[in-house]
Amino acid sequence: QTDDRINVAIDGPAGAGKSTVAKLVAERLGYIYIDTGAMYRVVAYKALEDGVGPDHAAEAVRTAERLSIELRPGQQRQQVLADGEDVTDAIRSASVTSKVSAYASNPGIRDILVRKQQEMARKKGVVMDGRDIGTKVLPDAEVKIYLTASVEKRAQRRFEELPEGSTTMEELREDIARRDEMDRNREHSPLVQAEDAIRIDSTDMSIEEVTEKILAICSEAIARG
Ligand code: DC
Repeated sequence: QTDDRINVAIDGPAGAGKSTVAKLVAERLGYIYIDTGAMYRVVAYKALEDGVGPDHAAEAVRTAERLSIELRPGQQRQQVLADGEDVTDAIRSASVTSKVSAYASNPGIRDILVRKQQEMARKKGVVMDGRDIGTKVLPDAEVKIYLTASVEKRAQRRFEELPEGSTTMEELREDIARRDEMDRNREHSPLVQAEDAIRIDSTDMSIEEVTEKILAICSEAIARG
């Protein structure tokens, strides 16, 4: 193993394009991409399946403790396994999406997932995206990016991804604003920009432009050693 590998933290609000860009950056660097939002989604999915609502805090923590989460890099997208079951699609359902912030505000669940994430990044060479990566999970990451975009633009991007007629722009805008609000105002590890993070506003940038910009920042950090 070469020792010049770094860790890259990419944080920001829902819909800023973090996962798309993080995946591309990881691919180009030959690094591993880790989607931490998927891990919170797996916990929410399992708890909901077991009938454990987000307000049953202690029981929800036990669900997280017992659970084995596996992220497998795939050709198209990362495959997500919960206790061996493929939940890649299930964790993107509307019911999980609307409840996941409530589980993610549980400090016991966060502790468990943060420890798993730190373990995954121990050998370096990861690109990790989330909300608290630069501030809490990998405070020593060599590169920290805070990726954001206007609510309007983020809603528009989601709209274009979804099947026609499944929702309206207005609903998406409201959903994004509501999730921002919950992620920013929770007591434990709220979404904030790390002091040493580089802020990129992707409102008027293409995926390729954002990716190139982050890769340039990574090259500098790798050269610095
Ligand atoms: O990025 P996403 O929409 O898949 O994230 C799902 C939820 O998990 C979202 O409400 C924010 C939360 N989350 C978090 O609190 N910390 C992370 N590191 C990643 C996601």
